[in-house]
Amino acid sequence: MNPSGGLFWHLHAWRCKSQWTATCADIALWLGQMPWAQHESAQTEELLILGASAGWMVPSAWLQRFRSVTTFDVDRWAAPLFQRRHGAALRASGTALRCHTHDALADLPALLSAHPRAVVLLDNVLGQLRFHHASVEAAAGQIQQITRGLHGRRWGSVHDAFSGRTQRRAAGSATVPMLHSPQAAKDKAAQTERRAVALAHFSNQLGAQGEWLDHLTDGVFPAGTVVHHIAWPYRPRYCHWLQAGWVKE
Ligand SMILES: C[S@@+](CC[C@H](N)C(=O)[O-])C[C@H]1O[C@@H](n2cnc3c(N)ncnc32)[C@H](O)[C@@H]1O
Repeated sequence: MNPSGGLFWHLHAWRCKSQWTATCADIALWLGQMPWAQHESAQTEELLILGASAGWMVPSAWLQRFRSVTTFDVDRWAAPLFQRRHGAALRASGTALRCHTHDALADLPALLSAHPRAVVLLDNVLGQLRFHHASVEAAAGQIQQITRGLHGRRWGSVHDAFSGRTQRRAAGSATVPMLHSPQAAKDKAAQTERRAVALAHFSNQLGAQGEWLDHLTDGVFPAGTVVHHIAWPYRPRYCHWLQAGWVKE
């Protein structure tokens, strides 16, 4: 059983499309700010998406900017569903699409060598890894190993920071005003401080209740990364706080 993907996830994502509109719009906004896109209409090179699932939360219009898109997911339903959701749009833009059922994270060094110039998108997967390991230490270790392995590469990640119960029901597609594009923190200490401020801000905004789950992604972004904070009403009274950033060390 896949704890972060599989048929249950696909059904849930399909059903929640309208409740997640604002979250997907926030993600689209962040994706659109990828610092290496030269021009709105100019196709950039190759994109690898790790933890792509069916690309429920990624707009086809953004994928069309690339000459080639290669996706990886351990879930066997992900590849056919990704093709189904985005295939036609990518054929229309002349973007080559290849979808693989593969543990891309275990095989990251080989994957990076095989695609030396590709931009890598970790698509809501790092924060899920604690559910794929028996211990928190093993999950944290793998997250650290992955981010180290990406050194020198152009990459981005959207992932869970925290998740938990909320007092209020999420109001459909209403946007929770997020902290868009704050200035990058200059060092680790400033980054930790920013995260604490964001946590207080979000707890208040979202009406956080009880103890929230830490998804172990605190150390993912190096200092200097501009981090976007995005609310994701996963269920009516259970919200994920996502963080998203682009990195080139
Ligand atoms: C929350 S879902 C991602 C959602 C997706 N980005 C979307 O827009 O629909 C997390 C995904 O990560 C996948 N995953 C978990 N571990 C993985 C690994 N080692 N390699 C590739 N995919 C993995 C899961 O199967 C799951 O589909």
